[in-house]
Amino acid sequence: MLVWLTAAGGLLLLCGPRILTSLFPYLLEDCVYMLRCLRLAITLLRYKRGKPLHSIVDGFLDAVRKHPAKTFLHFEGHAWTYSDVDRRSNKVARALQEAARLQEGQAAALFLPNEPNLVWTWLGLAKLGCPVALLNFNIRSKSLLHCFSCCGAKVLITSAELQDAVEEILPALREQGVSVYFLSETRHVDGVQVLTDRISKASDQPLSKDLRANVKIRSTALYIYTSGTTGLPKAAVVTHERMWAASFIQATCGITSDDVIYINLPLYHSSGFLIGLAGAIQRGITVVLKRKFSASQFWDDCREHNVTVMQYIGETMRYLCNSPQKDDDRDHKVRIAIGNGVRKDVWSQFLRRFGDIKVKELYAATEGNIGFMNYTSKVGAVGRMNVLHSLIFPYTLIKFDIEKEEPVRNSQGLCIKAAIGETGLLTGKVTQRSPFVGYAGNDQQTEKKRLRNVMKKGDLYFNTGDLMRFDKDNFVYFQDRVGDTFRWKGENVATSEAADVLTMAPCVLEANVYGVKVEGNEGRVGMAAVTVKEGQDFDCDDAYKVLHTYLPSYARPRFIRIQPCLEITGTFKMKKNKLVNDGFNPALIREPLYYLDASKRTFVPMTTEIYSAITSGTIKL
Ligand SMILES: *[C@@H]1O[C@H](CO)[C@@H](O)[C@H](O)[C@H]1NC(C)=O
Ligand SMILES: *[C@@H]1O[C@H](CO)[C@@H](O)[C@H](O)[C@H]1NC(C)=O
Repeated sequence: MLVWLTAAGGLLLLCGPRILTSLFPYLLEDCVYMLRCLRLAITLLRYKRGKPLHSIVDGFLDAVRKHPAKTFLHFEGHAWTYSDVDRRSNKVARALQEAARLQEGQAAALFLPNEPNLVWTWLGLAKLGCPVALLNFNIRSKSLLHCFSCCGAKVLITSAELQDAVEEILPALREQGVSVYFLSETRHVDGVQVLTDRISKASDQPLSKDLRANVKIRSTALYIYTSGTTGLPKAAVVTHERMWAASFIQATCGITSDDVIYINLPLYHSSGFLIGLAGAIQRGITVVLKRKFSASQFWDDCREHNVTVMQYIGETMRYLCNSPQKDDDRDHKVRIAIGNGVRKDVWSQFLRRFGDIKVKELYAATEGNIGFMNYTSKVGAVGRMNVLHSLIFPYTLIKFDIEKEEPVRNSQGLCIKAAIGETGLLTGKVTQRSPFVGYAGNDQQTEKKRLRNVMKKGDLYFNTGDLMRFDKDNFVYFQDRVGDTFRWKGENVATSEAADVLTMAPCVLEANVYGVKVEGNEGRVGMAAVTVKEGQDFDCDDAYKVLHTYLPSYARPRFIRIQPCLEITGTFKMKKNKLVNDGFNPALIREPLYYLDASKRTFVPMTTEIYSAITSGTIKL
C-alpha cells in the first residue's frame, strides 16, 4: 500500500498536477482519502498493540485530560463539560458496581431514550469493562424481551418514562433472574430498584483501569440491534476494534477538534452511536444531542450552538427540504453532513437552499465487514472503490436472481461476478482483517448472512443483502435491498417479523409482508397480502390491535390486501415482486384492500379518495 502511495505521489510530482487531474480526475481526492485512512489504520494498530487495550473509553479519558472544561454535551438547555461527564460516569459505575455487582465481561442492557443519561451510563459500564446492549426504545413486549434476552445480560437499566414498557415484561424478566434498575424516580414497583440515591451518594473519583484489564480488541463492546433479514431483531456484536474503526469515520470526513456535531439520530443505531457519539469522543468535540429529530428546530439549534457537522438519513434530509422556506435558511455554520440514503433530487434541493455543505454519503452495515464513503463530488454515488479499499476489504459484486432471491451460480456451483453497470449483490470477503462476528446467541441468523463458495470452493463472504451497481470509474451506487427487509422512517423492517405478528390476529391464516413505494416518501411503507381463515372475515379491529401491541409504528403494515391464496416460489418462498409492483391502488387491484387509519385506530376499506389523499400527501403516513 505504502509503495503504491509513494509511487502515486512521485507520479504527481513528475507530471504536474494539472495533466494528472485531467487524466485521473479523482486522483487527488483518492490520495487525500487514502492517506487519512492509512494514518488511522496506523493509530488503530498502536491501540491494538497497547496492553491493556486502549479502548474508546480511554480515548474519552484522554479528551478529559486534554480539555476538562470543554463542553462535551448540550441537551435541552443544559451543558456538561468533558470533566462533568467523566465524573458522572464514575458515579454511575460505582452505583452499579455496588447494586448489581457488575464485573468485567458481564453485559448490561440500556433501555433509554436519547438523553445524556445514556452517554454517562454507557461510559460508566465501559469503565467496568462491561459490554452494553443498546435497546431500541420503540420496541415493546415480545420484541423487547427477545432483544434483551439474546445479549445474555442479567441487568436492565432504564428510566421512568419507559416504565410501562418494562412493567409489561417484568414477570418474564423476574423468571430469568434479571435485575432492573431505574436511573430516575418512578412509582414503586416490587423488585425494581431506583438508583438515584446511590448515584448521588457515590464517589466521582476515577475508577481503576484494572477493572477492565482483560478487555481485548476483539472483545464485545456493544450489541446493536438490526433487522437485517428475517425474524425478530438481532443483536449485532460490535467489538472494540469495530467501534474504533467506526469512530474514525469523522476523521476521514475531515472533522477537526474545533467542530460541533448535532446528533438527532437515535443512539441505539450505529450511525448515531458509533459514527456520531464515538466519533465525537475520538475527535474530542462538542455534541449537541436531541431527543429526536425536529425539522422546525433544526436550523435554530444549529445557529444557537454553532453546529458545524450534522448527521442525516434520507428521511431527515427530505423533511428539512419540505419545511417552509425562511430568509435565514443559509445563516448557519454547518459545513459537513454525514449520513446515508439521500436521493439525488433531495440533495441538490438541499444544497440550493441551505448553501455549500459537503455531503459525506456512507454505506455500511452495523454487522457487515464492508463499507464505502462518498469522498468525491460524484452526485448519486454512495462511494468509491480504490486500491487501498479493495486491499483491506476485498469485496465482490455477484449476479443475483431477483425472482428467486438468491445468487446466480454456474455449473460448478460458484457465483458469477456482475458486470460493470449491472446490478448485483454486494458481498464482502471474510478475512482476518475484515471479520464477520455475527449475531449474539443466534447462530442460525449468523449463518444466513454467510455465503460460501462464492469465487472459489470453500471461501466465505458476508452477504450484505444490498443490491449495488459499480460504474466504469469505480463509483458505487446503491440500488435496492433484497426482498426480506425494507426501510421506512429510517428503520429497517423485517418482513417476516411483521408477518408473524399479523398472523396472531385470530382471523388471519397467512400473511406476506412487503414494502411499497409512496410518492414523496423515502423508503417503502409496509403492506401485507393476507389470507383469512375459512368461513371468517377480515377483522379490522383485531388486526389493528395485534399490530399496535406488538410492533413499533414504523413496522406496521399500513395496507392489507386480502387474497384467496398466497403465491409461493419454487423454493417455497412467498412471492413478493408482483405484489410490490401492484402497490396499493384500489383502482388497479380487484381484491379487497384495507388501510390502517391511525386516527381511527383500526383498518378501514381502501377507497380512491384515501388513495389520492395519500399519494398527494394530504394524508401523511
Ligand atoms: C457562536 O459563535 C459566535 C461567533 O463566533 C460566538 O459569539 C458565540 O458565543 C458562539 N456560541 C456558542 C454557543 O458557542
Ligand atoms: C457525494 O458528495 C457530493 C459532494 O459532497 C455530492 O454532490 C453528492 O450528491 C454526494 N452523493 C450522494 C449520493 O449524496
